[in-house]
This record gives sequence, C-alpha cells and structure tokens, in this order.
Amino acid sequence: MQVVPIQFEPFNALSDQAAAARITAARQVLGKRAVLLCHHYQRADVYAHADITGDSLKLSRLAAQSDAEFIVFCGVHFMAEVADILSRPEQIAILPDLAAGCSMADMASLAKVERCWRELATVLDPDEHVTPVTYINSAADLKAFCGEHGGIVCTSSNATKILEWSFARRDKVLFFPDQHLGRWSGHRMGIPLEQMVIWTPDLEMGGLTAEQIRNAKIILWHGFCSVHQMFQPAQIAKFRARYPDGKVISHPECSFEVCAQSDAIGSTETIIRVVKESPPGTRWLVGTELNLVDRLANEVKSEGKIVQFMADTVCMCSTMQRIDPQHLAWTLENLVAGNVVNQIKVPEHEAKLAKIALERMLAAS
Ligand code: 13P
Ligand code: SF4
Repeated sequence: MQVVPIQFEPFNALSDQAAAARITAARQVLGKRAVLLCHHYQRADVYAHADITGDSLKLSRLAAQSDAEFIVFCGVHFMAEVADILSRPEQIAILPDLAAGCSMADMASLAKVERCWRELATVLDPDEHVTPVTYINSAADLKAFCGEHGGIVCTSSNATKILEWSFARRDKVLFFPDQHLGRWSGHRMGIPLEQMVIWTPDLEMGGLTAEQIRNAKIILWHGFCSVHQMFQPAQIAKFRARYPDGKVISHPECSFEVCAQSDAIGSTETIIRVVKESPPGTRWLVGTELNLVDRLANEVKSEGKIVQFMADTVCMCSTMQRIDPQHLAWTLENLVAGNVVNQIKVPEHEAKLAKIALERMLAAS
C-alpha cells in the first residue's frame, strides 16, 4: 500500500518548542534507524538533536562509517550529496530542507569548469599538467569531473596536504570554487602569490594570458563565501589595539589578509578545539559563522575564556539556517510514517566518479 507523505505546511505553524518535542518523539520511535549528522553552523535548536557534529571532513568520514538506514543531514546540499556518495547503496541521505544550498558551491558549475579545461587546453595539455582540485563545497558533478581527470577533493582541514598530493602528480593545480582556501593553502606550501592567478569564469580564457597560465602554479577559481568575506583586517587591528594579549583565529575561507593577520587558521572543528584547549582566561576573536561563535562563547565562558565574533554585523550562513526544527520534525515524522522525503540521490555514474575523488582525499588525509 502506498503511504501518502505528510505535508509540510502544518509544521510551519509549530512553535520551536512544539517542534522540538515532536523531533524527540520521532527519534525515539526511529531509534538507531536514523542518524542525525549536524554541521557546526546549525542553529542551536537543531544542533541540540545531533548524534554527531563536525566539520565537513569529519562528517564525510562518519557518514561513510554509519550503519543507520537514514542519514539525516543537518547541513547544506553538498554535504548530503557526500553522505549519499560515501554511504552504502541501501542507505538513504536526507536534507530536511532542499533549499539549504551553499552560495559558494554555486559559483562553479560543470559547464564552466569544462569550458575552463577546454580553454586551458589551448595553452597546455591539462590532463598532463593540471590537477583539478575541488573544495568539498561543490556539486557532485564537479567532484566527478575531478575523479575523471586525475583530480581530488579537499576540505578546509586538509587543503595543504591535498595540494602536496596534487603537485606530486602534475605541475599545476586548478582549484575551485574557493579562491581564498586555495590561495592560503598554496601560500602555506611556499608558493609565491604571483604564481597563483585568478580564473574569472565569465571571461574568455578566464581573463588570463597564455603566459600567465604557463607561469602559474595554482589557477584559482573566482569564488568566495559571502559569509567569510565580511571579516576584515581592520576588525582584527581594532581588537589587537584594545586587547594586545588577545588571540585571533579564522576559517581559511576568509581573505588572505585576514588569514595572514590571524594567530591560527582552521576548519570549524579545529577552531572549536583550539579555543577549548587554550588556557583559562584567554580572549579570542573568531572569524567564522555566528552560530558556531555564539555556541563556543557560551561553552567556554565558565573557564573565564572570552570569545568574540570578528564582524560588527550579523554573519550567518542563511542557507544553513534553512534547516529549522519544523523541517526536521516534518522529515522525521515522515520516516516514522514510512515515507522518505527530501532524499538526496546522486546519479550512479556521477557518484562513481565523485567517489574516486573523495576516496583519494580520504586516503591522502
Ligand atoms: P568546515 O569544513 O570547516 O566545517 O567548513 C565548511 C564550510 O562550509 C565553512 O563555510
Ligand atoms: Fe557555503 Fe559559506 Fe555557508 Fe559555508 S558559510 S556553507 S561556504 S555559504
């Protein structure tokens, strides 16, 4: 008998508290059949229900190891795609709100990357000279492109290692979509800034000359995170003038100037760990998304640590915010009723190639 899915609309009217109670009740019924993976940028009332929290690398690894029938991903679209690709075929990856995308991931498309590859081929043989490296914040078809062309995936916590892997194979890297992570990781490897050029996808030849392409070590896609671009060196300067003993930690999606002026750089998981492991009384300025920073500030307050947000304005990842208790309650109650809603399923041929690039990353890091 076909079961009619429960519609979302009535859930919209639920208060956050009522939705929380229904999430808890549904989880009790589902038990180990469902695992809730939650990225650190999720809002507190969703994060509270997580079985596992983490950065993209940790969540990818744990999605691959999970035994649950349903992997409910409280994060953004590319993360649920990775969970689908790395999990077993019978497991089901679910994104509670399909509108939870990543604006940076949308800055590179397969059509544009393929065009870039063709244009590079007018200067050199890219399959001989260029390793394509995609940040995990990208669509599955771009990961598949990397799998097919001897390339690899990276995350914010392993990008330098992945560049080393790439340069051991070919003499150049095409890095997409985040120019900042690529530039910072290249800089950490000792690559001069002049040898990292920007590929502007809407311009012919990315706006580069053949000579610039021949001289480049890393070709950086002109992509960025709209949340992390709000952080500015002036905010760090102001903090340091006021608190000379204070420490600054930033995510590598911040601009080069912000990274260069920070005391530490790391993925979301690393930021949390470094702040938690710092001595009592330390004051931190943190350059990453506000939900994470607020949560961290509360968690370390009792140790006398002060955690401040870097920007003067609110910088939340609006798409991560799409996952709210109402959507989570709706998703889980549908599972209880025998319906799968919002399944993320990467087409098989694409998943196979994307998995190659992801597995290269997991082996290299
Ligand atoms: P992390 O892998 O560091 O959690 O970063 C993911 C992300 O999207 C940051 O904007
Ligand atoms: Fe994408 Fe930026 Fe949101 Fe991270 S914070 S998911 S990079 S839009």
